[in-house]
Amino acid sequence: MTGIVHLRVDGRQVAVVAGSSVAAAIAHAGATARESVTGQRRTALCGMGVCFECRATVDGRAQQRTCLLPVAEGMEVRTRG
Ligand code: FES
Repeated sequence: MTGIVHLRVDGRQVAVVAGSSVAAAIAHAGATARESVTGQRRTALCGMGVCFECRATVDGRAQQRTCLLPVAEGMEVRTRG
């Protein structure tokens, strides 16, 4: 895979290499994935779909494990709410 993919993370435009995970794009944007029930910011931990710490809303679908999702052009990612 080659090329650059553009997506938005919490409204911020991000450009990453095609084939990257959404979790990588979130990290590239300087964001974290979600907030715990006690308000702590969480981020990808296992990177293989086991821990669920990387969940975010992707194109309107809540609770997506972003470490398992490849980026796509024009994707909208929300880490809060
Ligand atoms: S980083 Fe563990 S499930 Fe995604």
